[in-house]
Amino acid sequence: MMGIEALVAGEAPSVEGLAALLACDDPRVADELMAAAYEVKVREVGAVAWLRGLVEISNVCRCDCRYCGIRRSNDAVERYTVPVDEVLAAGQVAFESGFGSVVLQGGERGDAAFVDDVEEMVRGLRDLSAGRLAITLSLGEQSPATYRRWREAGAERYLLRIETTNRRLFDAIHTGEQDFDARLNCLDELRAQDWQVGTGVMIGLPGQTAGDLARDILFMRDRDVDMVGMGPFIPHAGTPLAGSLGPEEDYRPRQLDLSLRMIACARLVLRDVNIASTTALQALHPQGRERGLRAGANVLMPNLTHVRHRRGYQLYDGKPGLDEGSEESLRALERSVAAVGEAIGYGHPGTSPHYRRRVARGDDA
Ligand code: 5AD
Repeated sequence: MMGIEALVAGEAPSVEGLAALLACDDPRVADELMAAAYEVKVREVGAVAWLRGLVEISNVCRCDCRYCGIRRSNDAVERYTVPVDEVLAAGQVAFESGFGSVVLQGGERGDAAFVDDVEEMVRGLRDLSAGRLAITLSLGEQSPATYRRWREAGAERYLLRIETTNRRLFDAIHTGEQDFDARLNCLDELRAQDWQVGTGVMIGLPGQTAGDLARDILFMRDRDVDMVGMGPFIPHAGTPLAGSLGPEEDYRPRQLDLSLRMIACARLVLRDVNIASTTALQALHPQGRERGLRAGANVLMPNLTHVRHRRGYQLYDGKPGLDEGSEESLRALERSVAAVGEAIGYGHPGTSPHYRRRVARGDDA
Protein backbone atom coordinates (compact mmCIF):
# COMPACT_ATOMS: atom_id res chain seq x y z
CA MET A 1 0.00 0.00 0.00
CA MET A 2 1.13 3.51 -0.77
CA GLY A 3 2.50 5.79 1.79
CA ILE A 4 3.94 3.81 4.69
CA GLU A 5 7.61 4.07 3.66
CA ALA A 6 7.11 7.72 2.78
CA LEU A 7 5.68 8.35 6.25
CA VAL A 8 8.58 6.54 7.90
CA ALA A 9 10.93 8.72 5.89
CA GLY A 10 9.18 11.77 7.31
CA GLU A 11 7.40 12.94 4.21
CA ALA A 12 4.40 15.19 4.81
CA PRO A 13 1.22 13.14 4.53
CA SER A 14 -1.90 14.09 2.63
CA VAL A 15 -5.35 13.78 4.17
CA GLU A 16 -6.22 11.24 1.48
CA GLY A 17 -3.12 9.13 2.08
CA LEU A 18 -3.65 9.02 5.82
CA ALA A 19 -7.37 8.39 5.44
CA ALA A 20 -6.65 5.43 3.15
CA LEU A 21 -4.38 3.88 5.78
CA LEU A 22 -6.89 4.52 8.56
CA ALA A 23 -9.71 2.99 6.55
CA CYS A 24 -7.78 -0.06 5.35
CA ASP A 25 -8.79 -3.17 7.26
CA ASP A 26 -6.45 -5.56 5.42
CA PRO A 27 -4.53 -7.21 8.29
CA ARG A 28 -1.31 -7.39 6.26
CA VAL A 29 -1.37 -3.63 5.74
CA ALA A 30 -2.15 -3.16 9.43
CA ASP A 31 0.88 -5.30 10.36
CA GLU A 32 3.09 -3.26 8.07
CA LEU A 33 1.71 -0.03 9.52
CA MET A 34 2.27 -1.16 13.14
CA ALA A 35 5.82 -2.30 12.38
CA ALA A 36 6.63 1.01 10.73
CA ALA A 37 5.13 3.03 13.59
CA TYR A 38 7.03 0.91 16.10
CA GLU A 39 10.29 1.55 14.30
CA VAL A 40 9.67 5.30 14.36
CA LYS A 41 8.64 5.16 18.01
CA VAL A 42 11.83 3.37 19.09
CA ARG A 43 13.95 5.78 17.11
CA GLU A 44 12.18 8.92 18.36
CA VAL A 45 11.18 8.18 21.94
CA GLY A 46 12.81 4.82 22.74
CA ALA A 47 11.51 1.39 23.67
CA VAL A 48 10.38 2.63 27.08
CA ALA A 49 6.89 2.78 28.53
CA TRP A 50 6.32 5.70 30.90
CA LEU A 51 3.86 5.40 33.76
CA ARG A 52 1.44 8.11 34.80
CA GLY A 53 -0.66 7.41 37.87
CA LEU A 54 -4.22 8.43 37.18
CA VAL A 55 -6.37 9.80 39.99
CA GLU A 56 -9.97 10.49 39.06
CA ILE A 57 -10.53 13.25 41.58
CA SER A 58 -14.24 13.90 41.05
CA ASN A 59 -17.10 12.75 38.85
CA VAL A 60 -19.11 15.90 39.46
CA CYS A 61 -19.44 17.60 36.08
CA ARG A 62 -21.10 20.74 34.77
CA CYS A 63 -21.16 19.38 31.20
CA ASP A 64 -23.69 17.15 29.53
CA CYS A 65 -21.68 15.65 26.65
CA ARG A 66 -23.83 13.15 24.84
CA TYR A 67 -21.21 10.37 24.87
CA CYS A 68 -20.08 10.57 28.47
CA GLY A 69 -21.23 8.34 31.31
CA ILE A 70 -20.69 11.01 33.98
CA ARG A 71 -22.66 13.67 32.08
CA ARG A 72 -24.57 16.02 34.36
CA SER A 73 -27.97 14.58 33.55
CA ASN A 74 -27.06 10.95 34.26
CA ASP A 75 -28.95 10.58 37.54
CA ALA A 76 -27.80 6.99 37.97
CA VAL A 77 -24.30 8.17 38.90
CA GLU A 78 -23.43 8.55 42.54
CA ARG A 79 -21.27 11.65 42.67
CA TYR A 80 -18.02 11.78 44.62
CA THR A 81 -15.10 14.10 45.18
CA VAL A 82 -11.83 12.75 46.52
CA PRO A 83 -10.51 14.71 49.51
CA VAL A 84 -7.15 16.43 49.12
CA ASP A 85 -5.33 14.15 51.57
CA GLU A 86 -6.48 11.06 49.72
CA VAL A 87 -5.16 12.47 46.43
CA LEU A 88 -1.84 13.16 48.14
CA ALA A 89 -1.73 9.61 49.48
CA ALA A 90 -2.21 8.30 45.93
CA GLY A 91 0.50 10.70 44.74
CA GLN A 92 2.84 9.36 47.40
CA VAL A 93 2.27 5.83 46.10
CA ALA A 94 2.97 7.00 42.55
CA PHE A 95 6.13 8.79 43.62
CA GLU A 96 7.43 5.88 45.67
CA SER A 97 6.65 3.50 42.83
CA GLY A 98 8.84 5.60 40.55
CA PHE A 99 6.10 6.93 38.29
CA GLY A 100 7.12 9.89 36.16
CA SER A 101 3.90 11.75 36.61
CA VAL A 102 0.53 11.89 38.29
CA VAL A 103 -2.55 12.85 36.31
CA LEU A 104 -5.45 14.46 38.13
CA GLN A 105 -8.50 13.96 35.98
CA GLY A 106 -12.10 14.73 36.71
CA GLY A 107 -15.40 16.13 35.60
CA GLU A 108 -15.34 19.78 34.63
CA ARG A 109 -16.00 22.17 37.51
CA GLY A 110 -15.32 25.84 37.95
CA ASP A 111 -16.48 26.44 41.52
CA ALA A 112 -14.08 28.22 43.83
CA ALA A 113 -13.84 25.35 46.31
CA PHE A 114 -12.79 22.97 43.55
CA VAL A 115 -10.24 25.35 42.05
CA ASP A 116 -8.77 25.88 45.54
CA ASP A 117 -8.66 22.16 46.25
CA VAL A 118 -6.87 21.40 42.99
CA GLU A 119 -4.34 24.10 43.77
CA GLU A 120 -3.75 22.51 47.17
CA MET A 121 -3.40 19.07 45.59
CA VAL A 122 -0.83 20.40 43.12
CA ARG A 123 1.22 22.08 45.86
CA GLY A 124 1.01 18.98 48.02
CA LEU A 125 2.19 16.71 45.21
CA ARG A 126 5.01 19.04 44.37
CA ASP A 127 6.14 19.19 48.00
CA LEU A 128 5.92 15.48 48.71
CA SER A 129 8.11 14.74 45.69
CA ALA A 130 10.42 17.77 46.02
CA GLY A 131 9.26 18.73 42.53
CA ARG A 132 10.34 15.46 40.96
CA LEU A 133 6.89 14.13 40.15
CA ALA A 134 5.53 15.84 37.04
CA ILE A 135 1.98 16.99 37.69
CA THR A 136 -0.53 16.65 34.88
CA LEU A 137 -4.05 18.04 34.98
CA SER A 138 -7.01 16.95 32.88
CA LEU A 139 -9.86 19.04 34.22
CA GLY A 140 -11.49 20.51 31.17
CA GLU A 141 -12.05 24.07 30.07
CA GLN A 142 -11.08 26.64 32.67
CA SER A 143 -10.48 30.38 32.74
CA PRO A 144 -7.00 31.70 31.97
CA ALA A 145 -6.75 32.77 35.62
CA THR A 146 -7.48 29.25 36.86
CA TYR A 147 -4.97 27.68 34.48
CA ARG A 148 -2.47 30.28 35.68
CA ARG A 149 -3.05 29.50 39.37
CA TRP A 150 -2.61 25.78 38.83
CA ARG A 151 0.49 26.36 36.71
CA GLU A 152 2.02 28.57 39.37
CA ALA A 153 1.21 25.99 42.03
CA GLY A 154 3.50 23.60 40.15
CA ALA A 155 1.48 21.68 37.57
CA GLU A 156 3.21 21.59 34.19
CA ARG A 157 1.23 19.37 31.86
CA TYR A 158 -2.38 19.70 30.74
CA LEU A 159 -4.52 17.33 28.73
CA LEU A 160 -7.56 18.76 26.99
CA ARG A 161 -9.03 16.68 24.23
CA ILE A 162 -10.56 18.42 21.26
CA GLU A 163 -12.63 15.19 20.94
CA THR A 164 -12.98 15.69 17.16
CA THR A 165 -11.81 18.42 14.81
CA ASN A 166 -14.90 18.08 12.65
CA ARG A 167 -16.96 21.00 13.92
CA ARG A 168 -20.25 19.51 12.80
CA LEU A 169 -19.48 16.26 14.58
CA PHE A 170 -18.27 18.21 17.63
CA ASP A 171 -21.65 19.93 17.80
CA ALA A 172 -23.49 16.66 17.26
CA ILE A 173 -21.83 14.87 20.18
CA HIS A 174 -22.24 17.80 22.55
CA THR A 175 -25.34 19.73 23.56
CA GLY A 176 -24.64 23.26 22.37
CA GLU A 177 -22.98 24.16 25.67
CA GLN A 178 -19.62 23.04 24.34
CA ASP A 179 -18.07 25.38 21.83
CA PHE A 180 -15.32 24.29 19.48
CA ASP A 181 -13.67 27.70 19.38
CA ALA A 182 -13.73 27.99 23.15
CA ARG A 183 -11.89 24.66 23.30
CA LEU A 184 -9.29 25.95 20.83
CA ASN A 185 -8.88 29.10 22.90
CA CYS A 186 -8.17 26.99 25.97
CA LEU A 187 -5.49 25.06 24.06
CA ASP A 188 -3.97 28.38 22.94
CA GLU A 189 -4.03 29.74 26.46
CA LEU A 190 -2.34 26.65 27.89
CA ARG A 191 0.37 26.90 25.30
CA ALA A 192 0.86 30.60 26.02
CA GLN A 193 1.18 29.80 29.73
CA ASP A 194 4.04 27.42 29.05
CA TRP A 195 2.24 24.18 29.81
CA GLN A 196 3.21 20.96 28.08
CA VAL A 197 0.02 20.54 26.12
CA GLY A 198 -1.76 17.34 25.24
CA THR A 199 -4.87 16.83 23.21
CA GLY A 200 -6.64 14.01 21.47
CA VAL A 201 -9.84 12.68 20.06
CA MET A 202 -12.32 9.88 20.39
CA ILE A 203 -11.88 7.30 17.67
CA GLY A 204 -14.81 5.72 15.87
CA LEU A 205 -17.56 8.15 16.81
CA PRO A 206 -20.84 7.62 14.98
CA GLY A 207 -20.62 9.56 11.71
CA GLN A 208 -16.85 10.10 11.96
CA THR A 209 -14.97 9.33 8.74
CA ALA A 210 -11.38 8.24 8.09
CA GLY A 211 -10.89 11.70 6.59
CA ASP A 212 -11.97 13.26 9.88
CA LEU A 213 -9.41 11.16 11.76
CA ALA A 214 -6.71 12.04 9.24
CA ARG A 215 -7.48 15.72 9.78
CA ASP A 216 -7.37 15.13 13.55
CA ILE A 217 -3.78 13.93 13.21
CA LEU A 218 -2.82 16.91 11.06
CA PHE A 219 -4.50 19.21 13.58
CA MET A 220 -2.29 17.81 16.34
CA ARG A 221 0.75 18.23 14.13
CA ASP A 222 -0.13 21.80 13.21
CA ARG A 223 -0.82 22.69 16.84
CA ASP A 224 2.60 21.31 17.71
CA VAL A 225 1.25 19.39 20.71
CA ASP A 226 3.59 17.61 23.10
CA MET A 227 1.29 14.80 24.19
CA VAL A 228 -1.54 12.80 22.70
CA GLY A 229 -4.29 10.99 24.56
CA MET A 230 -6.85 9.38 22.37
CA GLY A 231 -8.90 6.25 22.50
CA PRO A 232 -11.84 4.40 21.07
CA PHE A 233 -15.32 5.75 21.58
CA ILE A 234 -17.28 3.15 23.57
CA PRO A 235 -21.00 3.71 24.00
CA HIS A 236 -22.33 4.07 27.54
CA ALA A 237 -25.79 2.66 28.20
CA GLY A 238 -26.92 5.66 30.23
CA THR A 239 -26.22 8.24 27.51
CA PRO A 240 -27.93 9.43 24.31
CA LEU A 241 -25.24 7.66 22.26
CA ALA A 242 -26.11 4.25 23.74
CA GLY A 243 -26.53 1.75 20.92
CA SER A 244 -25.10 4.15 18.35
CA LEU A 245 -22.52 1.64 17.09
CA GLY A 246 -24.77 -1.42 16.85
CA PRO A 247 -24.14 -4.71 18.66
CA GLU A 248 -21.15 -4.87 20.97
CA GLU A 249 -19.63 -8.00 19.43
CA ASP A 250 -19.48 -6.15 16.11
CA TYR A 251 -18.11 -2.82 17.24
CA ARG A 252 -15.47 -4.06 19.69
CA PRO A 253 -12.99 -5.50 17.19
CA ARG A 254 -13.73 -2.69 14.75
CA GLN A 255 -13.06 0.06 17.30
CA LEU A 256 -9.92 -1.69 18.54
CA ASP A 257 -8.40 -2.09 15.09
CA LEU A 258 -9.28 1.45 14.05
CA SER A 259 -7.77 2.84 17.27
CA LEU A 260 -4.53 0.92 16.75
CA ARG A 261 -4.26 2.22 13.18
CA MET A 262 -4.92 5.73 14.49
CA ILE A 263 -2.14 5.43 17.09
CA ALA A 264 0.24 4.11 14.43
CA CYS A 265 -0.56 6.92 11.99
CA ALA A 266 -0.25 9.51 14.77
CA ARG A 267 3.20 8.13 15.66
CA LEU A 268 4.31 8.23 12.03
CA VAL A 269 3.23 11.84 11.63
CA LEU A 270 3.89 13.34 15.08
CA ARG A 271 7.19 11.48 15.66
CA ASP A 272 8.61 12.65 19.00
CA VAL A 273 5.48 13.25 21.12
CA ASN A 274 4.28 11.12 24.02
CA ILE A 275 1.26 9.03 23.05
CA ALA A 276 -0.87 7.27 25.66
CA SER A 277 -2.12 3.75 25.31
CA THR A 278 -5.42 4.44 27.03
CA THR A 279 -7.59 2.41 29.34
CA ALA A 280 -10.40 2.47 26.80
CA LEU A 281 -8.23 0.25 24.55
CA GLN A 282 -8.02 -2.27 27.35
CA ALA A 283 -11.78 -2.13 27.75
CA LEU A 284 -12.03 -3.50 24.20
CA HIS A 285 -9.39 -6.20 24.55
CA PRO A 286 -7.52 -7.67 27.56
CA GLN A 287 -4.21 -6.89 25.84
CA GLY A 288 -5.45 -3.63 24.35
CA ARG A 289 -2.89 -1.45 26.03
CA GLU A 290 0.03 -3.70 25.10
CA ARG A 291 -1.21 -3.63 21.53
CA GLY A 292 -1.24 0.16 21.82
CA LEU A 293 2.45 0.08 22.76
CA ARG A 294 3.16 -2.09 19.74
CA ALA A 295 1.28 0.38 17.56
CA GLY A 296 3.47 3.28 18.68
CA ALA A 297 2.13 4.50 22.03
CA ASN A 298 4.70 4.98 24.83
CA VAL A 299 2.68 5.97 27.91
CA LEU A 300 0.55 3.86 30.26
CA MET A 301 -1.78 5.34 32.83
CA PRO A 302 -2.44 2.90 35.68
CA ASN A 303 -5.47 3.90 37.67
CA LEU A 304 -4.66 4.92 41.25
CA THR A 305 -8.16 6.08 42.13
CA HIS A 306 -9.34 4.45 45.35
CA VAL A 307 -11.40 1.38 44.45
CA ARG A 308 -14.42 2.69 46.30
CA HIS A 309 -14.76 5.51 43.76
CA ARG A 310 -14.08 3.51 40.63
CA ARG A 311 -17.65 2.56 39.88
CA GLY A 312 -18.48 6.24 39.91
CA TYR A 313 -16.09 7.03 37.06
CA GLN A 314 -17.58 4.99 34.25
CA LEU A 315 -17.16 7.25 31.22
CA TYR A 316 -18.02 4.28 29.01
CA ASP A 317 -19.33 0.76 29.51
CA GLY A 318 -17.03 -2.08 30.55
CA LYS A 319 -14.24 0.07 31.99
CA PRO A 320 -11.66 -2.40 33.33
CA GLY A 321 -9.22 -2.43 36.19
CA LEU A 322 -11.01 -2.61 39.49
CA ASP A 323 -7.80 -3.77 41.16
CA GLU A 324 -5.47 -1.74 39.01
CA GLY A 325 -2.74 0.31 40.60
CA SER A 326 -2.17 -2.30 43.29
CA GLU A 327 1.31 -3.68 43.75
CA GLU A 328 0.16 -6.90 42.16
CA SER A 329 -1.31 -5.29 39.07
CA LEU A 330 1.84 -3.21 38.64
CA ARG A 331 3.87 -6.40 38.50
CA ALA A 332 1.44 -7.71 35.90
CA LEU A 333 1.89 -4.49 33.94
CA GLU A 334 5.66 -4.92 34.07
CA ARG A 335 5.32 -8.41 32.70
CA SER A 336 3.19 -7.27 29.81
CA VAL A 337 5.53 -4.39 29.00
CA ALA A 338 8.42 -6.88 29.07
CA ALA A 339 6.44 -9.12 26.74
CA VAL A 340 6.40 -6.26 24.22
CA GLY A 341 10.20 -6.17 24.61
CA GLU A 342 10.25 -2.89 26.53
CA ALA A 343 11.09 -1.62 29.98
CA ILE A 344 9.12 0.72 32.20
CA GLY A 345 10.76 4.09 32.64
CA TYR A 346 10.96 4.49 36.41
CA GLY A 347 12.19 7.44 38.42
CA HIS A 348 12.15 9.95 35.61
CA PRO A 349 9.43 12.38 34.43
CA GLY A 350 9.56 11.07 30.85
CA THR A 351 8.99 14.46 29.27
CA SER A 352 8.29 14.16 25.57
CA PRO A 353 11.35 14.87 23.41
CA HIS A 354 9.04 17.08 21.40
CA TYR A 355 8.61 19.47 24.33
CA ARG A 356 12.29 19.40 25.21
CA ARG A 357 13.16 20.28 21.63
CA ARG A 358 10.72 23.12 21.32
CA VAL A 359 11.98 24.62 24.57
CA ALA A 360 15.59 24.22 23.46
CA ARG A 361 14.70 25.98 20.20
CA GLY A 362 13.15 28.77 22.26
CA ASP A 363 9.78 28.49 20.52
CA ASP A 364 7.08 30.71 21.92
CA ALA A 365 6.42 28.04 24.66
N1 5AD B 1 -16.04 6.50 25.14
C1 5AD B 1 -14.73 6.79 25.06
N2 5AD B 1 -14.17 7.85 25.62
C2 5AD B 1 -14.97 8.67 26.33
N3 5AD B 1 -14.72 9.81 26.99
C3 5AD B 1 -15.86 10.24 27.55
N4 5AD B 1 -16.87 9.41 27.25
C4 5AD B 1 -16.35 8.42 26.47
C5 5AD B 1 -16.88 7.28 25.83
N5 5AD B 1 -18.18 6.97 25.91
C6 5AD B 1 -13.41 10.44 26.98
C7 5AD B 1 -13.47 11.85 26.40
C8 5AD B 1 -12.95 12.72 27.51
C9 5AD B 1 -12.14 11.75 28.33
C10 5AD B 1 -11.90 12.15 29.74
O1 5AD B 1 -12.90 10.57 28.28
O2 5AD B 1 -12.60 11.93 25.29
O3 5AD B 1 -12.16 13.80 27.06
